[in-house]
Amino acid sequence: MNLYDRIPNNVNLSEDKRLQRALEKWLPNFLSWWHDMGPEGFQEKDVWLRTAIDVGSEGWAHFDYVKMPEYRWGIFLEPAQPDAKVGFGDNYGQPAYQEVPGEFRNALRRIIVTQGDTEPASVEQQRLLGHTCPSLYDLRNLFQVNVEEGRHLWAMVYLLHGYFGRDGRDEADALLERRSGNPDKPRILEAFNQPCDDWLNFYAFTMFTDRDGKYQLSALAESGFEPLARTCKFMLTEEAHHMFVGDTGLSRVVKRTAQLMKQNPDEDVRALGGIPLEIIQKYINFWFSYSLDLFGGEISSNSADFFAAGLKGRFKEQDQYKDHVAAEGSYTLMVVEDGKLVPREVPLRNALNEILRGEYVKDCEKGLARWNKALADEGVNQRLYLPNVRFHRHVGEYAGRHFDLAGNLIAKEEFERRKTVWLPTVEDREYVRSLMKAVTEPGKIANWIAPPSTGIKGKPFEFEYVRL
Ligand SMILES: [Fe+2]
Ligand SMILES: [Fe+2]
Repeated sequence: MNLYDRIPNNVNLSEDKRLQRALEKWLPNFLSWWHDMGPEGFQEKDVWLRTAIDVGSEGWAHFDYVKMPEYRWGIFLEPAQPDAKVGFGDNYGQPAYQEVPGEFRNALRRIIVTQGDTEPASVEQQRLLGHTCPSLYDLRNLFQVNVEEGRHLWAMVYLLHGYFGRDGRDEADALLERRSGNPDKPRILEAFNQPCDDWLNFYAFTMFTDRDGKYQLSALAESGFEPLARTCKFMLTEEAHHMFVGDTGLSRVVKRTAQLMKQNPDEDVRALGGIPLEIIQKYINFWFSYSLDLFGGEISSNSADFFAAGLKGRFKEQDQYKDHVAAEGSYTLMVVEDGKLVPREVPLRNALNEILRGEYVKDCEKGLARWNKALADEGVNQRLYLPNVRFHRHVGEYAGRHFDLAGNLIAKEEFERRKTVWLPTVEDREYVRSLMKAVTEPGKIANWIAPPSTGIKGKPFEFEYVRL
């Protein structure tokens, strides 16, 4: 097999023997990780997947039946921009960095490793879901997400191997050694250590946690370190499908729940094998709050340093802002002082995590509006909502304190008393799990979710997306 078939790429890998050797050494370790930690029980099946074979509009959306271990994980960067410049921060307007600037080396490596760690983590979290798929269409979407997260790992490992020498290679190895949820060698970020063992979790995860990925990648797509910017731009095209899976998945669950509510005189969907809206709301509360943590502290000197260095910009930095230096200006956010919530003004650059989080929240709200429209369309009056950003946080200003869903500061005892109403309980999770029985006949769907309005890439819902 030639090099391009082993490692498809548009980075002239064949001309860089050192990098080629390093990646070829890493490849079997990746495959053995995929074998151990990738989707369990379906490795030999034909799955109708899209594969990136180039970054052009035709190339990256190539659809065919593939066995997952034979998926062509490749290295694809958006084409380089001639005369690319650092787009923000203290070095604004200077030529973009083609190599890692020595003074930013540690910061950049940390950014890339943290992003890279999330990719295999989510595959690990989702590895058992295939056994309980609600339809072949959903099973295929799960595997599509999984193989693309595998490719995202490749994307970050390429940067580590290509630009960070020895310690980059060590970090690339460590990415295959940590394990989601393992107390001895956990993944770096907490959302990626949470179990994702039923399909309601999966949809909420791809809606809220993959969407954090969109905002992190968008901020890094602005980076003055050009290889990182070009890598992230291409990853974003894949990420869109992951969020589609989550957003439409939840929408379909909500729709089905609404239909079942209308069928039962007491609106009791449990009696009809559906998922009650209260449980859906709790899953939203859980994954939204964990995903908010991924943006980091509200007041952050790291965010200021990364921005000053031109490494991590704001969301749509070039399109949305005129002042790319952002050295002046301030931002007001709520902090807890003497047991009370009070406003505090901080320098703009120290509030960039919070500003990015705000963009993310706005985006999530659009999803909620779509799901609420599904409720309205079915004639149900109840509505779903996002909890306040202070609710159930483990990182930043609000960690270690307690807030209700509206963001009011409350005592720990009150939180403990009410948390079973706000967050999934063991019984809720068991109930949801009890509904998860695989439906694998083409065109059939589980009772607790509505079918999608269309299939994938022009194929009907009845298409045999996975040959079992
Ligand atoms: Fe990803
Ligand atoms: Fe993703």
